[in-house]
Amino acid sequence: MKHAPFYLFLLIAFLLSACQPEKASPMDETPFALEVPAGFPYPDIPEDNALTAARVALGKRLFYDPILSQDSSISCAGCHRQALAFADDVPVSPGVKGRLGFRNAPTLANVAYLERLNKDGGVAKLGLQPVVPIEDHNEMDLLLQEAVRRLNAHPGYPDDFLRAYGKEATPFTLTRALASFMRTLISGNSRYDRYINEDETSMNELEKTGMALFFGEKAECGNCHHGFNFTDNSFRNNGLYATYQDPGRQRITLDAEDIGKFRVPTLRNIALTAPYMHDGSLPTLEAVIEHYDSGGSAHPNKDTLIHPLHLSEAEKRSLIAFLGALTDSTFITNPAFEKE
Ligand code: HEC
Ligand code: HEC
Repeated sequence: MKHAPFYLFLLIAFLLSACQPEKASPMDETPFALEVPAGFPYPDIPEDNALTAARVALGKRLFYDPILSQDSSISCAGCHRQALAFADDVPVSPGVKGRLGFRNAPTLANVAYLERLNKDGGVAKLGLQPVVPIEDHNEMDLLLQEAVRRLNAHPGYPDDFLRAYGKEATPFTLTRALASFMRTLISGNSRYDRYINEDETSMNELEKTGMALFFGEKAECGNCHHGFNFTDNSFRNNGLYATYQDPGRQRITLDAEDIGKFRVPTLRNIALTAPYMHDGSLPTLEAVIEHYDSGGSAHPNKDTLIHPLHLSEAEKRSLIAFLGALTDSTFITNPAFEKE
């Protein structure tokens, strides 16, 4: 009997541990089922940020939350609007306190596929890109550390971060959650897609004529705007200016041969994302076609594919009609991308 207290201690310890089930990981690893349209590859997803439903949901909440801007006035969606294929409708979008940057806000459709981010390719990974708008003086103007502090002091976000990453908000988890949401913004259900996937009726004759011109040898658009996302991901000078205020790719490489080169942009949903070019200087698709038809301005770095095209008025109309067939109306109305 002299050992009774020891057994009693074991019994109590056992009962206590039984009441405290093994601490379950707070992380919810349910994968996110990413649907990829016919003809699209599955995007590369970094191993340290597997796509889960909790991460996508958290990223979406953050994307729409002005908490990430200095004065809580603007969210990512302020410049990247779903109805406009996650682009904006002004040449340069105002950030906090109405400050203006120097580039036109691009669509976020299919950013999961971009090899380098931003028009000059200055950012190598989608997971790092959100640092730029959050900290940029002319965009959200908030230090990442301060963003993280706000999120960890918030009544709702700490639980969301635990579910998504098993830990609190950090610069890593904040930026990776935003990237997870953006990876789901895939657009590949335009009338053009339905046409190439064997629904002959989904494009009209004018659009088909425009398509043949676009990919043919007369207009040569498809030599740069190439493949399922209408970009070969290269940096080119398309002859917009004789002198560039924004040197484009040269800002990153410091190589004079890169002055005026910008990443060839996707043309998906292009009818929704006016105005056009890196600075939003061309207001309409008509102006874009006039630019290419003229052969552009003389610049030492101008691509050899840019030269006068001698298009007829009917050919210009058909090209514009074809670009209109690249609008994906299901993308801009998809409730999965809307603010909750
Ligand atoms: C004030 C307007 C503004 C806000 C707010 C804004 N962006 Fe942007 N975004 C831009 C502009 C302008 C660019 C083009 C930058 C460049 O090319 O140098 C851009 C580029 C991007 C790109 C690169 C796309 C590409 O084609 O390379 C991504 C991704 C992106 N933004 C995501 C975000 C996220 C996420 C947020 C919120 C954290 C955000 N943006 C907030 C204006 C904005
Ligand atoms: C030499 C490669 C090249 C060729 C050929 C080319 N483009 Fe482009 N395109 C570009 C580049 C680079 C840009 C971005 C320039 C900038 O941002 O200033 C661009 C921009 C555009 C834009 C504006 C996109 C946006 O989001 O602002 C449209 C529309 C466009 N091109 C359509 C066409 C059409 C139509 C043709 C054929 C007539 C064509 N392109 C031929 C390289 C090319």
